[in-house]
Amino acid sequence: KNIAIIMGGYSSEYKISLKSGNVVYTYLDKEKFNLYRIHIFKDKWVYVDDAGTEVPIDRNNFSISLNGTTITFDCVFNAIHGTPGEDGLMQAYFKLLNIPHTSCGFYQAALTFNKRDLLSVLKPYGIKSAPAFYLNLGDKINETDIINKVQLPCFVKANKSGSSYGITKVYKKEELRNAIATAYKEDDEIIIEGFLEGTEVSVGVLKINGITTVLPITEIVSENDFFDYEAKYEGKSQEITPARINDEQLANVTTVSKKIYDILKMTGFSRSEFIFIGNEPYLLEMNTTPGLTTESILPQQAKEAGITLPQLFENAIIEALS
Ligand code: DAL
Ligand code: MG
Repeated sequence: KNIAIIMGGYSSEYKISLKSGNVVYTYLDKEKFNLYRIHIFKDKWVYVDDAGTEVPIDRNNFSISLNGTTITFDCVFNAIHGTPGEDGLMQAYFKLLNIPHTSCGFYQAALTFNKRDLLSVLKPYGIKSAPAFYLNLGDKINETDIINKVQLPCFVKANKSGSSYGITKVYKKEELRNAIATAYKEDDEIIIEGFLEGTEVSVGVLKINGITTVLPITEIVSENDFFDYEAKYEGKSQEITPARINDEQLANVTTVSKKIYDILKMTGFSRSEFIFIGNEPYLLEMNTTPGLTTESILPQQAKEAGITLPQLFENAIIEALS
């Protein structure tokens, strides 16, 4: 089978995506699959061979021409974080072309990539989240209204972004405006959430043999003020799997994570973040193209479950093709 591993993307997360994609390339069994690394950048979509030679993709049918032969793909392994790989654009494109891929559907990707829409859709199902205030570019900023709604400290976040790009923890009213300007650099929509004080966990969910499966849960202990970019990628955090949570917390977060995955009719990987208030998990967000580097959380969780990286990645292809 010909497998295209797509990586890169148009967002601030492209470097992390290149790492994830190269890990997938390294660990997928090359005796079972013909692997093609495809870079998806704003100015070019190209196949890149081991020597670094680039061959353009024909975007009409997502094929490449190598030495006069046209190569099409049986499955796409999606390793793009952020747009266009995590927000539904590539998913819709592949659906139109009838090419199976390892992600969720285009609607699920678009919905989950939009933090505030996701939380609003899940709320009637009893999924809890922090008090929140929404802003769109051009809206008047009234600090008093914001703080009355969410209290201090609060988090100012770009609504559609990842890897903590654009996020600031705000302690004082005077810091709000700068934080909002920072978030607008990533997106023209903002979500400002009240700080939830409690244990933070990350929950990986995927399908194995068609069954929704929750991986061992990871506790996030950040050395920084919150789980920011540096904490995520520069070692400034401890990620403890399995999480040191009590039985009721474990049961609750497992049930809620599975429920969310099934309500949304998800497929492929997902990794959701929660904070416990008492034994109740509050949802922060959901990632449908979670980091897949060897240090990333979902691969660590798979390892704890006894699933190796080659098995994890092969399973994604098997599920996509089933
Ligand atoms: N957005 C990053 C890659 C993650 O969720 O792992
Ligand atoms: Mg995220």
